[in-house]
Amino acid sequence: MVKPGLTAMVVAALALALATAVALACAEVDDPEKVNAWFNRLSHAEHKTTHLHFYFHDTLSGKNPTAVRIAEATMTEKSPTLFGVVNMIDDPLTEGPEPESPLIGRAQGFYGSVGLESLALHMNVNLVFTTPEYNGSTLSILGRNPALETYREMPIVGGTGVFRLASGVATAKTYFFNLTTGDAVVEYKVIAMHY
Ligand SMILES: *[C@@H]1O[C@H](CO)[C@@H](O)[C@H](O)[C@H]1NC(C)=O
Ligand SMILES: *[C@@H]1O[C@H](CO)[C@@H](O)[C@H](O)[C@H]1NC(C)=O
Repeated sequence: MVKPGLTAMVVAALALALATAVALACAEVDDPEKVNAWFNRLSHAEHKTTHLHFYFHDTLSGKNPTAVRIAEATMTEKSPTLFGVVNMIDDPLTEGPEPESPLIGRAQGFYGSVGLESLALHMNVNLVFTTPEYNGSTLSILGRNPALETYREMPIVGGTGVFRLASGVATAKTYFFNLTTGDAVVEYKVIAMHY
């Protein structure tokens, strides 16, 4: 049997957890004292799940590319899978697939071609958000992207700001690809668990 006193305590504990969750959401990005205080409150925090949906514009062609080749392997025969090629990127992330669609952040990092026999990219990319809700917060993608497959799944291995201690999954699906230039628009859906 549950005593009234215990019920009151449970309610109080839940209220505290809720209040803490609200306080945790307002995470500062840069002050180490506040980061420390945030960690001290963690034991009362609840997991949150955030779903994000956006389009990633990887432009290699034209006067203003956002993806540039920074390295390639010296091989006697040209690799059909571009094995050994590395591109550095600062790609815009937008709400919709059109380039003029509202900007929600950028994907900064690099990807390299790691498949000898079939195209596979190793992604090492930080998603940097600029919308009011997530401004300055980041999520980090580290994983394998077999870019010619319909759906690709990549791990979210961490985050900062609102997304501290994040873990999750990003799924990617190509929306547009120009075989000649390599320009691509990719639809991303991200599910991140954080506090
Ligand atoms: C995001 O943060 C930057 C730097 O702190 C600031 O200049 C900018 O106005 C902020 N943008 C929004 C939408 O809050
Ligand atoms: C791909 O890019 C080339 C070179 O810029 C262009 O001529 C062609 O129309 C593009 N194809 C598509 C499907 O956009």
